[in-house]
Amino acid sequence: MEVDTLIIGAGAAGMMCAAHAGGRTLLVDHAKKPGEKIRISGGGRCNFTNLHAGPANFLSGNPHFCKSALSRYTQWDFIALVEKHGIAWHEKTLGQLFCDDSAKQIVAMLTREAAAAGADLHLETGVDAIERGPDGFTATLTPARGKKRRVSARNVVLATGGKSIPAMGATGFAYDIARQFGLPVTETRAALVPFTFPEKRFADLSGTALPVRATTGGTTFDEAMLFTHRGLSGPAMLQASSYWREGQPLAIDLSPGLSLFDHLRARRQVHGGRNLTTELSAVLPAKLVHHLAAPLALTGNLADQNDARLAEICDSLHAWQLLPSGTEGYRTAEVTLGGIDTAALSSRTMEARDVPGLYVIGEAVDVTGWLGGYNFQWAWSSGWAAGQAI
Ligand code: FDA
Repeated sequence: MEVDTLIIGAGAAGMMCAAHAGGRTLLVDHAKKPGEKIRISGGGRCNFTNLHAGPANFLSGNPHFCKSALSRYTQWDFIALVEKHGIAWHEKTLGQLFCDDSAKQIVAMLTREAAAAGADLHLETGVDAIERGPDGFTATLTPARGKKRRVSARNVVLATGGKSIPAMGATGFAYDIARQFGLPVTETRAALVPFTFPEKRFADLSGTALPVRATTGGTTFDEAMLFTHRGLSGPAMLQASSYWREGQPLAIDLSPGLSLFDHLRARRQVHGGRNLTTELSAVLPAKLVHHLAAPLALTGNLADQNDARLAEICDSLHAWQLLPSGTEGYRTAEVTLGGIDTAALSSRTMEARDVPGLYVIGEAVDVTGWLGGYNFQWAWSSGWAAGQAI
């Protein structure tokens, strides 16, 4: 079989690319259905972009790399596409846009767009090997049923994503092929992932959530934190995990919107006889106050605490220091940090500088977004950029 472009991976980036690449396009995926991560994303409603998406919301060895694609195919372009397909959406919080009904609408939209552009989708089809010759590439396709087939293509697009959630078929395929063609791959690690702590330290708090300000690696996020049986999750922790490294502490402000010192001092003037933990439980989850009572020696009435002691307690609660033992890893991570080094790629076309015809898009590239629709926006923008260039 001979095609112009072979796109490997029918996920967010691959389908977007297929919708814009001209000529004969073959889109293959080893999964049974396209866009499986889109389907499960955003609790089944797909947080498909963010109103505020911009280069500052991405981590990369080269923070400038994402600028070109993001500015040429923006969140507004994707919103226009969603509206063209009559998909109702809403902003949930912090600029995060979700489908009103189902993430499946986004998968159906992209499948239709790719088909309308003439792309041929082959599911349950892996790729064994890719070789480069004088006129392009030759790949061996391995369908789940039937014989292996050879396909020749002028262009090959690596759109197989990162390593997160191997149970859903995530592989390091793109990294292996990149290395085969001499493209460097930066260190990869699980990101947007819950933290773990030894001895199920917060098991007694499992299910408790509160708004916090979390700081690690010099970056701060104001979002919700959730205690789980295994450790800490919720948006604030997932965001922090992308900036955290083993051995680093996490600083958590448990009351970002209210100065506990001012509040408790004012309460002490009128209700000095009230119990300290009862008063704290009025502004923090009671279970959390109970959990912290022994380590922070939260005993006595408000009147028992002089200003210095009150300040000491409040400082501990505004800058709670924790040392995670690790993260839940790729098993539950929403994304992979790191990937194919942007130095090897054109930021305008996503084509490998030294391997004409080889493109890399989406999560496989060393560009990782924050939580909140940014990773899909990168998939759309980078997929579009490659599609335009092809
Ligand atoms: P993606 O992973 O989408 O697609 C890769 C495709 O390649 C898959 O279809 C896979 O089957 C295929 N493949 C892999 N190896 C292959 C091989 N060897 N041969 C053939 N095919 C192969 N982001 C966001 O912006 N908003 C959100 O709401 C969420 N929610 C979310 C929830 C969960 C649970 C996860 C795990 C992730 C998210 N994300 C997210 C992140 C988002 O899903 C992710 O960044 C994009 O899907 C990346 O798009 P890609 O197309 O690069 O990879």
